[in-house]
Amino acid sequence: MDLELRNKVAVITGASRGLGATSARLLAANGARLVLAARTTTDLDKVAQDCAASPGVITVPSDLTLPEAADAVRDAALKAFGRIDILINSAGASQGGVFWEIPDTVWQDSLNLKFMSTVRMMRAVIPTMIAQKYGRIVNIIGSNGMQPSARLLPGSAANAALLAVTRGITEDLAPHNVVANSVNPGPTRTERWTTLMNRLSQSSGRSVADVESDFTRQIPRGQLAEPEEIANWIVFMASDRAANMNGTGVMVDGGWFKGLG
Ligand SMILES: NC(=O)c1ccc[n+]([C@@H]2O[C@H](COP(=O)([O-])OP(=O)(O)OC[C@H]3O[C@@H](n4cnc5c(N)ncnc54)[C@H](OP(=O)(O)O)[C@@H]3O)[C@@H](O)[C@H]2O)c1
Repeated sequence: MDLELRNKVAVITGASRGLGATSARLLAANGARLVLAARTTTDLDKVAQDCAASPGVITVPSDLTLPEAADAVRDAALKAFGRIDILINSAGASQGGVFWEIPDTVWQDSLNLKFMSTVRMMRAVIPTMIAQKYGRIVNIIGSNGMQPSARLLPGSAANAALLAVTRGITEDLAPHNVVANSVNPGPTRTERWTTLMNRLSQSSGRSVADVESDFTRQIPRGQLAEPEEIANWIVFMASDRAANMNGTGVMVDGGWFKGLG
């Protein structure tokens, strides 16, 4: 299937690792031009090298917890390419733990990075997309926004809020041919997941394999996803092949989510 992404301009946050980096490589293979944003310059440069098939790649080292960062990423994209067709929000990492042991800072960090960076990036690029009469926004959220996970509540709460925003902005966007949707992974083997399991292992005194089995036994497929299995959906949702999807999302979680909604 040709996704017709050639020369489309895609801004990707969280592009230095994990799902953002994997999506960047796949978009490059499909001929998209890329704006890669995250904090770590060396990692961004490595991803940019992997994206040699792209007709144009820039990196924009940014700490997206800073209020001014989203506008700076947008400005860099417009300066380099003159338009923004696609926004993929994949920056984020929430710590977990036992609810009554999680301090305010963990909740605040989760909301500030994952929720607010996504809100600010959308707010920054939507006027450009409306003016172009074209835009595809894909928010990488997580199925635990609909099925909260006891040990991952700061992330579950940020995800629930993002699902609400992604759904709620569609009425304002759709008349301008701008759509926002989500891809909702379940547990996926990225650096974020490994860090999370190590932290839960340390705080509980259990082995990493034991802690991880708490999650995998809830997944009918019985295993973590690989990043490519999620990125395939992200790139599809960024393409016009998903044009009739609006304010909704796909659960790509091996059957973790048990609800009907
Ligand atoms: N992996 C999973 O199991 C899973 C499941 C459901 C949902 N998700 C969601 O998917 C998204 C991507 O997760 P992932 O697994 O790919 O995580 P990851 O491998 O840890 O990558 C996270 C990305 O976010 C960037 N980032 C972190 N803090 C940042 C900041 N302050 N400013 C700018 N960028 C920042 C990181 O780059 P720098 O450190 O270089 O800044 C990195 O590129 C997250 O929102 C996560 O909640 C993941």
